[in-house]
Amino acid sequence: MEKAINQQINREFYSAYLYLAMAQECESIGLKGSAKWFTLQYHEEISHGMKMIDYMNDQGARVVLDAIEKPPVKFGPLVTMFEKTAEHERFVTKSIYSLVDLAIKEKDYATQEFLQWFVKEQVEEESTDADILARLRLAGDRGNALLMIDSQLGKRTE
Ligand code: FEO
Repeated sequence: MEKAINQQINREFYSAYLYLAMAQECESIGLKGSAKWFTLQYHEEISHGMKMIDYMNDQGARVVLDAIEKPPVKFGPLVTMFEKTAEHERFVTKSIYSLVDLAIKEKDYATQEFLQWFVKEQVEEESTDADILARLRLAGDRGNALLMIDSQLGKRTE
């Protein structure tokens, strides 16, 4: 279980790095609102990693930090960025489910309980990504609509 949570900590920090890279791509093409949205997502992923680190420490487990993979530099248009975000979050959800499966197999009741927060969080993240993607697909190539969505994304506060 300890090894699997350490691996998940690395995935959370990779997620943070991935969204920070997307934020920088948005900055470079003038999508300031989206850049802010992805930067906040970066902070959220860091907090997920830290939540797991705190839990490991509470349980007297050893946290071992591994190298964080290099994220891509180019992601394409905003709709593609959110497609990649949604795809990545589906991968993270599967990874959380594997942790739950392992906790059940190992009769690790505390970790099963701890992971429920992440199970709920993944439902929220996938739902948010799906909403944004739906709006972006409706907007298509219309610049005005895209700028409006970018401005809405910039209003994110947490
Ligand atoms: Fe840490 Fe985006 O899930």
